[in-house]
Amino acid sequence: MVVWGVCGMWAGCTKEPPLDPDPLDPAESAQPVLPDETFPYSELTYPQTWLGDPALQLAGSFSGNPQVTDAGATLGRVLFYDVALSRTNDVSCATCHQQALGFSDGLSQSTGVSGVPTRRNTMALSNFRYQRRMFWDQRTNGVVNQVLQPIEHPDEMDMSLDALTTKLQAIAHYPPLFESAFGDSLVTPDRIASAMAQFLQAFHSYSSRYDEGLATGFANFTPSEMLGKEVFFNGETRCNQCHSGLLFQSGQAFINGLEVDYEAQGDGGIGELTGSADDDGRFKTVSLRNIGITGPFMHDGRFATLREVVDFYSDNIQPHPYLDERLSEAGSGPLGQAPYQLNLTEEERQGLVDFLHTLTDTVMVSAWWLSDPF
Ligand code: HEC
Ligand code: HEC
Repeated sequence: MVVWGVCGMWAGCTKEPPLDPDPLDPAESAQPVLPDETFPYSELTYPQTWLGDPALQLAGSFSGNPQVTDAGATLGRVLFYDVALSRTNDVSCATCHQQALGFSDGLSQSTGVSGVPTRRNTMALSNFRYQRRMFWDQRTNGVVNQVLQPIEHPDEMDMSLDALTTKLQAIAHYPPLFESAFGDSLVTPDRIASAMAQFLQAFHSYSSRYDEGLATGFANFTPSEMLGKEVFFNGETRCNQCHSGLLFQSGQAFINGLEVDYEAQGDGGIGELTGSADDDGRFKTVSLRNIGITGPFMHDGRFATLREVVDFYSDNIQPHPYLDERLSEAGSGPLGQAPYQLNLTEEERQGLVDFLHTLTDTVMVSAWWLSDPF
C-alpha cells in the first residue's frame, strides 16, 4: 500500500478507494446566515502603496486566479466553513485554518477526519493575489488548483469529488448559491474550486502596526520594536533579503539550515519532488505577516515560540551542503558556506521578537466577511 503522507505530487499517488461518506440528512445540515446585501468582495482592493509597488505588480500579474465576484466569494465563504465537505461531517477548512489565528491552528501538526496527524504544519493564509506556488514544497500552481486537494486528502477531509457534488446538490441552500455565482444551480468540482479560490483572495493582510508605522515614520513603535526592525533589515541578519518587500515573503524557496540532511530526518521538501541534493530541505519562504499569531513555526512546527526562531537564526543554523549564501558570514558567493554566527545580544533578540509581532493584522483576523457564517 502506498503511504499517503509521502506522496509529493498528487498524480504520483496510488489511491485507496475512498470510503463512502457518512450520511448527512440534507434537511438537518446547518444553515448559513448571510447578510441581506451581498458583501462587495469584488471591490476589495489593496492600498495604493501596494498597487504601485513594482515587486508586487510582478507577483500580482499571476493570471491563474479566478475573477472575483461578490456571489462567487460568498459561496466560497460558505464552503470554507462547511463541515459537510468532509466525509465525516465534522471537519471544515476552518478546522485547521482558523481566522483568529491568521488562518492557522496553533498546532505543530493537525488532524482531520482520520485522526492521523498531517505531515507538515498547517500554513497561515493571506494575500493570495500575490502568491503563485502553494504548499511548503510549492508543488501546486495557484490557489484554485490547491483547494480541492484537502477535500480529497484521506487525512484531511477524505471526500471524493463525485460524492461531494451529489451531497451539496441535495443541501437546500447550495443550488441557489451556485446559481447566483455561476448562472445555474449545477454543483461541479470546478465551481467549488473557483468559489473557494475567490473567497481566499479576500484574505487581505495589510493592516498591521508595521503598516501604520510605514505611513507615520514609525512614531508608533517602541524602542525595542525599532531595534528589532533595524536588526531585521540590516546587512548582517539579512532577514529581509528572503522575507522581503511588503509581503515579507519570497516567491522562491530556500534552504535555511534547520538540518544538515533533511531527507534523513524525514522531510526533504522540494528535494523529494526533484530528487536533487541541492533541493534537500528547500521549502517555501513563507510570509511573515501575522507571524505573531501563526505559530508553531517552520514546515514541521518545530519551534513553539518566535524567541526559539530568533535563537535558531542567531546561533544554530546547521552546515547544510547547499545552505543559502545569505545565511553565511559573507552573504554572497557559493552555496554551502559555513553558517553565520550572529551572536545577537539579549536586546536584539527581544527586539526582533517584538518587531515580528508588529506584523499582526488587526482587520483580517476579525473581519465578519471572512468569518464563519454557520
Ligand atoms: C487537517 C487540517 C487541514 C484542513 C482540514 C485543511 N488544511 Fe489547508 N493546509 C493544511 C496543511 C498541513 C497545509 C500544508 C501542507 C503541505 O505543505 O504539504 C495546508 C496548506 C494550505 C494552503 C497552502 C498555503 C500556502 O501558502 O502555500 C492553502 C491555500 C490551504 N491549505 C487551504 C485549505 C482549504 C481551502 C481547505 C478546505 C478545503 C483546507 N486548506 C483544509 C492543513 C489543513
Ligand atoms: C536564505 C533565506 C532566509 C533568510 C536569510 C531568513 N529566512 Fe526565515 N525562512 C526562510 C525559509 C525558506 C523558511 C521556511 C523553512 C522551513 O520551514 O523549513 C523560513 C521560515 C521562517 C519563519 C517561520 C515561518 C512560519 O510560518 O513557520 C520565521 C519566523 C522566520 N523565517 C524569520 C526569519 C528571521 C527573523 C530572519 C533573520 C534573522 C530570517 N527568517 C532569515 C528563509 C530565510
